[in-house]
Amino acid sequence: MLTTNKMFYIIKKDLSSLEDLLYETVESPVELITDIGRHLISSGGKRIRPALYILATKSSDNVDKNYSMPLAMAIEMIHTASLVHDDVLDNASTRRGSATANAKWGNNIAVLTGDYLFAKAFAAIAKNDYGPRISELLASIVCDLSEGEILQNHFGYSIPEDFDVYYDRIAKKTANFIAVSCELGAIVAKQPEENIKALREYGYCIGMAFQIVDDILDLTSSSKKIGKPAGNDILQGVITLPVIYAYKHSSNAEELKNIIENRQMTHEDLTRAIDIVKQSDGIEFAKTKVNEFLNRAHAIIPNNIPSSVHKSFDAIADFIGKRDY
Ligand code: FPP
Ligand code: MG
Ligand code: MG
Repeated sequence: MLTTNKMFYIIKKDLSSLEDLLYETVESPVELITDIGRHLISSGGKRIRPALYILATKSSDNVDKNYSMPLAMAIEMIHTASLVHDDVLDNASTRRGSATANAKWGNNIAVLTGDYLFAKAFAAIAKNDYGPRISELLASIVCDLSEGEILQNHFGYSIPEDFDVYYDRIAKKTANFIAVSCELGAIVAKQPEENIKALREYGYCIGMAFQIVDDILDLTSSSKKIGKPAGNDILQGVITLPVIYAYKHSSNAEELKNIIENRQMTHEDLTRAIDIVKQSDGIEFAKTKVNEFLNRAHAIIPNNIPSSVHKSFDAIADFIGKRDY
């Protein structure tokens, strides 16, 4: 959780109420669901999406918490459900240092629990009467996540010719969710349409930057630091920006392509592929893109929102640029 961090200082209390609400939401007459739900919530997570949503609601100072908080919960529940499903698809055994639901309870129970949490999110939205605009935005997140996941599965292990294929995929997988989280906060705060649009764009830009940093870290960090083996993306056929850059510019592009398309790569193959990417300027190129997105994010924060909120948005964008990569 980010409650102790200065970026989210002004929403510290709200984030603490969110935790209570999350635990309340996973209560089910079926004890096993409650147990799994509690396991998922207590395993942590940065709560970045609801935090950005709550921060955006502070663009106005008269938003009723009883009205705004269920939506924060729904945002985090959709995220949690998507991760539970993702871990089944990826056959992952740990997340955030804890056992995944599929590792602890098996794939069937995990998928069904994901469905359950997902339904709880939409039940809260229906109950609190947020209206069609908000429901549609939430549904768009799930469509994007599903589309992104399907594309990633279907077109894995093949290097796209165009950077836009990559940008589109990370938008669907990460940035659009963060964009909508900010947008929803601005809508709930009844901000003028230009601010709603600007905060959406802000979320999109920090989301893109965040995912590119993640993709760089996958290549540069030791396995201990990121909790999964270095080069894991290549191993899983997920082709990221530095790899596409290397494919376009390296004199060893064909070798890189062969290693990736072979799928059955050995540890040596993987190390060689990472070396080819590192020897091209792929990582540096990706870092310049991170900075471009973050500059765009800083520039688009509306000036007519409270300065404490503006400063928090700036601090979040700065934080993404300063992650150790
Ligand atoms: C993490 O990706 C996972 C996602 C970005 C979303 C996964 C979405 C679905 C499975 C479909 C949506 C389903 C519902 C119920 C909303 P990753 O595997 O690249 O990253 P990781 O390292 O965090 O596992
Ligand atoms: Mg995964
Ligand atoms: Mg995945």
